[in-house]
Amino acid sequence: MVSAAAARKTVSVLFCDLADSTALGERVDPELLRELMGRWYDEMRIAVERHGGTVEKFVGDAVMAVFGLPRAHEDDALRAVRAALEMQTAVERLNASLARRDAAELRIRIGINTGEVVTGDEAATLATGDAVNTAKRLEQGAAGGEILIGGLTERLVRHAARLEPVAPLDAKGKSAPVKAWRVLGAVAGADSFARRWDTPLVGRTSELAVLRAELTASADERRCRLVTLIGAAGVGKTRLVSELVAEVRDHATVAAGRCLPYGDGITFWPLTELIRHLGGEQAVTDAMGDEPDAALVVERLRVFAGKGTAPPEELFWAVRRLFECLAASRPLLVVLEDVHWAEPTLLDLVEHVSRWSRDAPILILCVARKELLEERPQWEGVRVRLEPLSSGEATQLLEALDGDGILSPELRARVAEVAQGNPLYTEQLVAMLAEEARAALELVTLPPTIQALLAARLDRLDQHERHVLERAAVVGKEFWPGAVAALDGGDQALGTTLLELVRRDLVEPAVSSIPGEDGFRFRHALIRDVAYSGIPKRTRAQLHERFAGWVEDRNAREELVGYHLEQAYRYRDELGAIDAGARALGERAGELLTSAGRRALAGDDMPAAVNLLERGVALLPRTSESRGFVLLDVAIALMRSGAFASAEGALEEALDLARADRDRRLELRTLVEREFFRIFTNADPSTEEITRIAKEAIPALEALGDDTGVAKAWHLLSEPPVNACRWGERADALEHALEHARRAGDAREGARIAASLMQAIQLGPTPVDAAIDRAHLFLRESEGDRLFTASILSSLAVLLAMRGEFGEARAQWAAAQTPWNELGMLHRRAIRAIDASTIELLAGDAEAAERELRDGYRMLEEIGEMHVRPTVAAYLAAVLAQEGRAAAAEEFVHFAESHAWEDDIVTQVMWRVARAQVRAPAGEAAEAELLAREAVDLAAPTDFLDLQATAQLALARVLREAGSPAAADAAARAQAVYELKGNVVGAGWAAQLVETAPGSE
Ligand SMILES: Nc1ncnc2c1ncn2[C@@H]1O[C@H](COP(=O)(O)OP(=O)(O)O)[C@@H](O)[C@H]1O
Ligand SMILES: [Mg+2]
Repeated sequence: MVSAAAARKTVSVLFCDLADSTALGERVDPELLRELMGRWYDEMRIAVERHGGTVEKFVGDAVMAVFGLPRAHEDDALRAVRAALEMQTAVERLNASLARRDAAELRIRIGINTGEVVTGDEAATLATGDAVNTAKRLEQGAAGGEILIGGLTERLVRHAARLEPVAPLDAKGKSAPVKAWRVLGAVAGADSFARRWDTPLVGRTSELAVLRAELTASADERRCRLVTLIGAAGVGKTRLVSELVAEVRDHATVAAGRCLPYGDGITFWPLTELIRHLGGEQAVTDAMGDEPDAALVVERLRVFAGKGTAPPEELFWAVRRLFECLAASRPLLVVLEDVHWAEPTLLDLVEHVSRWSRDAPILILCVARKELLEERPQWEGVRVRLEPLSSGEATQLLEALDGDGILSPELRARVAEVAQGNPLYTEQLVAMLAEEARAALELVTLPPTIQALLAARLDRLDQHERHVLERAAVVGKEFWPGAVAALDGGDQALGTTLLELVRRDLVEPAVSSIPGEDGFRFRHALIRDVAYSGIPKRTRAQLHERFAGWVEDRNAREELVGYHLEQAYRYRDELGAIDAGARALGERAGELLTSAGRRALAGDDMPAAVNLLERGVALLPRTSESRGFVLLDVAIALMRSGAFASAEGALEEALDLARADRDRRLELRTLVEREFFRIFTNADPSTEEITRIAKEAIPALEALGDDTGVAKAWHLLSEPPVNACRWGERADALEHALEHARRAGDAREGARIAASLMQAIQLGPTPVDAAIDRAHLFLRESEGDRLFTASILSSLAVLLAMRGEFGEARAQWAAAQTPWNELGMLHRRAIRAIDASTIELLAGDAEAAERELRDGYRMLEEIGEMHVRPTVAAYLAAVLAQEGRAAAAEEFVHFAESHAWEDDIVTQVMWRVARAQVRAPAGEAAEAELLAREAVDLAAPTDFLDLQATAQLALARVLREAGSPAAADAAARAQAVYELKGNVVGAGWAAQLVETAPGSE
């Protein structure tokens, strides 16, 4: 069932070669040369193997070694570098031993590179991949005695090695030169990762308290306590312990040692280090004082300094005695770091000391990853688990790490999501992003350090566990055992293996989103990513395709099925394995994604629509009939999400396609859409051009039976009257558009059209009573569509206010606002501020009207809107002018005047209305009258009755101010227009003015 198939792995490859070997052959006797080469090979092999690498092959006089096969280690790159340094030393030693025998002097050059390779099954472990070629290239570029490393290796070891950059190497057959660094030496005792201790400690108060209490308890009880701090790599164990140490230093003796992952004689290394830190043999002697067994203890402990030998039991005893004596005067804190790497004998020693020591306050604090308990389930003592930081704490840490605020809020959120409360991951991600100055969210990839850490963890799994984990990784962060089993055609051992993976903290049970299927999820998204990255692409392609079938049978959403088919296609494409079957796969993926994208578009979810449609269109073959229309939808989605440049590109592409295929329907639809685009982006929309295209498209698309298209064309035709304020004309076109949209069964588009239509009816010549009836009709149809309902209610509220029903008007307006606020449609809410102020003015509350307009203006200002803001400013100015607030009014008049388009009639009328009323009381009667008359003239050709009446009323007021007998006449005209609309309240104002104005009888 499970075969050791090929796998993808990140490894470090080392090439080592004898420099000038031909010259050497000439100088040295062949017999000696043979002996020399034999010794040299041995030395190289020893150096490689001591650091956990494998010699892959000897080619001529070159050695190729790989670090990370068959099993990865988190520090493979560093191991390779250390091995290389040792190889150079070994060669020097070899030369020294030869010096007198001949003129032979060996010089080696070494190249190291880290990267992804593919390894075969057990028979052929040989790694292949570009990473290997690059390592070879680096080796060839090195001089005798030199070690050169490549970019990824540099990133992984730079905190632990002394390096200097050299000029990039020109590589044969490679597109870019290879970046290289020269290794000067290694930093002794460096950790596998760069860690930083400069950020303030976040959280951890309770854990610190537990450790503190353990130390106190051991002091009170005067006995040894063994505590093990358990947590994942990077979760903050060492940091926590260092905080504890700093805190207790003054009243306790601290002794610390660390376990190493590999090396000669590492078993007791932590004790060697511990004693050295205490002060070596002298410190031991001092600590033992005049104890009767002092001399023997000192003698035994010299073993740790490499002097003499003793049986383990003797060593255990000596360490215990040392600890007891160290603890005689004050508590002793022994810290053993990285105990998951400890040899069993060291663990035995620790347990021995903790069990047998007497009458001494000792706290042995072991720090380990969970692997310790996998190796040694019976491990004694208290266990303290260190969990990831809470999300609040993680945010705090991120703020501290990104002090300069290089990362955008979105990027920070993404880092938090990926790091899941692990401080080391957080640090590494921030460092990577800061360095690469990458801004795009998708680019939060795996830092190579974390990849190495997790790959090492996964390489500890047995073959079946690994196999299951990889299948699960194809399914996703959440997965179902049923799906994992289906990928292999059934798997008997799955249940037990999953439990094992749970035990190892790699996965955990989760709530299932598929009824009837158990759910699981990866403990960390990065674990999934690393497991996934180990699967060869060919296998990935097969598994994604199989899984797509499995979810499809369970009624999964189209985007999910489409995603997996898309992956299956992509990997085949990358492997150059596109046959008819793969093509069909790609096309189906394209159709599913497109269909999901259209649903997102209809639901106004623009980010999803853009993403799905763009991916869909990329998968549809050029010959696909629907491709052009998908492009059109891509353009619409892009346009609605504000990505105008890309939208324009998609439109042009659709148009080219339509013309090449002589697809008249596509061509007309695209042309219509392009005019919308021009209107939307203010890209020089010409009324004549819009009208011509719409009028041409309507009958043609009608003949083609494309109701959606006809609806759009009518909708387009309704656009030019907007600026001109010919609302009746707009309403007529929209009535047609609505009819066709409904015929096409497009409810969403219908609602959009109806909302515009209602507004046209509100503003145009339709009398208030009829308009209110229409609003009620729309409301009955709008059930469930909250945004549609909101716009109808907003119009209805204004109409009710015109009839003087203010209570009801305000109630409806309030109801309209809720969805805008809840759905975050602040823009819509801001534009409708004019409606709100109209209601308040009709109700006689100028202050409230001003407040509404100011709010709207501020919102538009915040988002930098410049289309409607001048109009809102003009209305605001008019209210202020009527209140006699000349200076404030003038400010907004100025803004409206200087930013309004020439053909934007409403704004042009309203700022004149405002300024006329500012100027009149200031004694500038002539200019005021001129402005007011201009306003009246501008409003005259429109059918915007309220605007006409407002202009007339302003004129009447200006004339009254000047004592002109023409005032009554103007007021009477305003009254007539208001009455035509059925605006009872407005008519009342005008009537009052008629009575009080000069010129009335
Ligand atoms: N609570 C914390 N607050 C701030 N930084 C932390 C915290 N815990 C860990 N770090 C930082 O995260 C990195 C990894 O922590 P470390 O203690 O080395 O992890 P571990 O020993 O568990 O592998 C270090 O740079 C450390 O300074
Ligand atoms: Mg640590």
